[in-house]
Amino acid sequence: MKIEIVAKKVKDIKADCEVVFVVAKKTKHKWVKDLAELNKQGYEGGDDEVISLSQKNKIYVGITSLETEDVRIGAGIAIKSLRKTKYKSAKLGLYHNGNESDGVSAISEGFLLGSYIFDKYKSKPGKLSLAKINISTESYQGTSEQKIAELKKAVKEAEVIAEAVNFTRDIVNTPPMDLDPVTFSGIAKEVAKKGELSVKVYGENYIKKEGMGAFLAVSKASAFPPQLIHLTYRGTGAKQKIVLVGKGLTYDTGGLSIKPSEAMLSMKMDMGGAGAILGVIKAVSELKLPVEVHAIIGATENVIGKDAYKPDDVLVAKNGKTIEVRNTDAEGRLVLADILVYAQEQKPDYIIDVATLTGACVVALGEYTAGVMGHSDELKESMKQAAKKSGELVAELPFNRYLPKLMKSEIADISNISSGRYGGAITAAIFLSNFIDKSNQKKWLHIDIAGPAYVKNEWAYNSYGATGAGVRMITEWLKDLK
Ligand code: BES
Ligand code: ZN
Ligand code: ZN
Repeated sequence: MKIEIVAKKVKDIKADCEVVFVVAKKTKHKWVKDLAELNKQGYEGGDDEVISLSQKNKIYVGITSLETEDVRIGAGIAIKSLRKTKYKSAKLGLYHNGNESDGVSAISEGFLLGSYIFDKYKSKPGKLSLAKINISTESYQGTSEQKIAELKKAVKEAEVIAEAVNFTRDIVNTPPMDLDPVTFSGIAKEVAKKGELSVKVYGENYIKKEGMGAFLAVSKASAFPPQLIHLTYRGTGAKQKIVLVGKGLTYDTGGLSIKPSEAMLSMKMDMGGAGAILGVIKAVSELKLPVEVHAIIGATENVIGKDAYKPDDVLVAKNGKTIEVRNTDAEGRLVLADILVYAQEQKPDYIIDVATLTGACVVALGEYTAGVMGHSDELKESMKQAAKKSGELVAELPFNRYLPKLMKSEIADISNISSGRYGGAITAAIFLSNFIDKSNQKKWLHIDIAGPAYVKNEWAYNSYGATGAGVRMITEWLKDLK
């Protein structure tokens, strides 16, 4: 689907169909020309309310306001409706909240993200007829700054970001039989090749040699070797070095502390963090951002078998700390412990890990919101702002002096689960912080995307399954980095 900026009034653009947003139920607007018909059909333009007037070749979508995210959602809702039609082209005006480029980005992202569905495994995949979307330079407010080059640049950027999100969605949605740790490192190599990134993939011997006893233990029962994947992008003029770390469990059965069937279902998404940072480094390299970004992934499977690691095992991580395994389903933190130690050897300015880490985070925040944790208020605040700008939802889960005590082990340096019942998303992050050097504590941020990475019902511009959570907010954060 191509998106184009057209320097004409909406009415002068030729297209098979016109999309009109009804903003805050205000039906008195020059673009709302079918009021009688809309009234007749009881259409009020409420939030997400969509109506297709096929005789008029028009689609009306209600949006809450002109805020960027509302516009993005409006475009997502519009494309979901257009998907059911045979229109080849559509046009609409420029909806923005004071900044035309942001409006164009939002419209473009909404269309591109909303057009995604995962139907590769259907014997008859659906086809989107819509090939072109024309965005007029005529704005809702009636003004037009005519900064066409800027608007075109905004479309390009939105395309890069949406493509990265859809790429992440594809890998997260792929069934575990087709996406194992080794095929995953193959995908990373492809990304590297296309984006002129450097990539190193380390297997079992290296992981053993480097003393990554926690990562190794989790991988033991798998038919596939664990893969430590390290991609590097070096932007020209880079002043900062950012290390992104991703949990890459291509499947999580829970291991011997096995998950109930219901909870196991959808655990193909347990590499959502790794998928997200792969999407980020792809976007960053295409946008040619002036930063140095490392994406470091621990890819493995948590399965059962005669070699499976056991509750009661004591593991030694790369930094020498010993970990008592009390639950093999708390495996993500074990993998991340070793990867975080490896990541700090790069001497980064910031280190951000992204993981589908805990069910507790979903309980705490709901399935739309990611949890942000760490020791630096400034860093958390900057990520919250980037998330807001990008349209992702995040909330901070605070550390305190009491929770770390719950991670004590009687026989090792630390337990892999909390002795308490509550605050599981935070205690998991506290576990991770044990593998961050004292000198790096304020450089580290943990993002738990267990909720938003994968959804069982469509919302806004997301369809069933993977959402690509994390990609937009981290790319935005990197864009704003000074
Ligand atoms: N991959 C899961 C977390 C998860 C749960 C992600 C739901 C997405 C949706 C993780 O490895 C896990 O199983 N965590 C356990 C930790 C517990 C054993 C302390 C959990 O959340 O139940
Ligand atoms: Zn688990
Ligand atoms: Zn897991």
